[in-house]
Amino acid sequence: MAEIQTSKYFIDLEEAHGAHNYHPLPVVLERGEGIWVWDVEGKKYYDFLSAYSAVNQGHSHPKIINALIEQAQKLSLTSRAFYNSKLGAYEQKITSLLGFDKVLPMNSGAEAVETAVKLARKWSYEVKGIPENNAKIIVCENNFHGRTTTIVSFSNDTDAHDHYGPFTPGFIRIPYNDVTALEEILVKEAKNIAAFLVEPIQGEAGVYVPDEGFLSKAAALCREHNVLFIADEVQTGIARTGRLIACHHENVQPDILILGKALSGGVYPVSAVLANNSIMDVIQPGQHGSTFGGNPLACAVAMAALDVVLEENLSERAEELGRLFRSEIQKIISKTQLITHVRGKGLLNAILINSTPQSSTAWDICLALKENGLLAKPTHGNIIRLAPPLVITEEQLMDCVKIIETTVLAF
Ligand SMILES: Cc1ncc(COP(=O)(O)O)c(C=O)c1O
Repeated sequence: MAEIQTSKYFIDLEEAHGAHNYHPLPVVLERGEGIWVWDVEGKKYYDFLSAYSAVNQGHSHPKIINALIEQAQKLSLTSRAFYNSKLGAYEQKITSLLGFDKVLPMNSGAEAVETAVKLARKWSYEVKGIPENNAKIIVCENNFHGRTTTIVSFSNDTDAHDHYGPFTPGFIRIPYNDVTALEEILVKEAKNIAAFLVEPIQGEAGVYVPDEGFLSKAAALCREHNVLFIADEVQTGIARTGRLIACHHENVQPDILILGKALSGGVYPVSAVLANNSIMDVIQPGQHGSTFGGNPLACAVAMAALDVVLEENLSERAEELGRLFRSEIQKIISKTQLITHVRGKGLLNAILINSTPQSSTAWDICLALKENGLLAKPTHGNIIRLAPPLVITEEQLMDCVKIIETTVLAF
């Protein structure tokens, strides 16, 4: 008789053979559909993480899966040594949708950030005229832009950063949401500054939403000082915050836009860097690339993923349901001391648990939420991010609010 393989079996297998670079919630998932995921024992959960906002369109969206299957049966990878019959159509679609001349396709979010850093540096030497090797990029405290050596060089998260040196120089860190700090550094050093790299909402840091006007003022200051405004919308982009990109809340068009995650509906790693010709044209053949970047499978999947966002009005849905969600959580806050705050935009939200970051309360709440059929994960100890796929209905969202309320009040 075949041995029944329980969650414990799969967890032990990963523990034994996989690097311990994550600390997952003890649940083993084997199936997903829309807002739902099922574990290996067959238990069904609301997914309230959406793979860190990569599954905005819902798990296994049929349109995206069909695009994947159809293209996989035809042609998956050509490398960029040759043209392929999908890349141009994808490039045309994404650039016209977001209002840029050009796109540079990559795979992961971190690769796209690296690409933007390289693009900004090259632009600063060849167009702005900064002396070679003097270009600086301004970043923010508590940023999260990925895990490469250069990106962790400018992280102040000790886990992400420590013992990975020697680090890449050329970055200046200022407080997030601080226009004055940005202006001071620009006034002092703009002639050697290539760019300001910023997350429109700091997702990994714990869903920090800057003051209204921060993005538009920062973008205007950058323009005034001939410094590129780079928006890392890997997490906030693709309708998550109630607009196609979060910068649109403040009518900001970044000079360089970075997308990833939900650009593929979580089906396949696809990321992108968008810019106009005056910037993008500094990269010429042989100067940057990726074997998988822009492959036909990625292009077919990303086109379908973008279609779903538009056809199903996911931005509007995120905006509307996000408001409802925060007002419902506010009602729970009035009944308990355990949650002190809810914040976010669209369906990228977080609750603050009334405990220290070192306490296990938020983790324990997530374990209890799991028992009650909802999956979420703490970040930085006492913050729980709540970000369901954007295809969730109002009725389902209200059911989730009930689960959160019951769980928290029983604590
Ligand atoms: C804002 C931001 N940039 C970049 C990344 C890195 O993306 P990836 O994990 O695909 O490399 C993330 C991932 O969470 C992110 O939130």
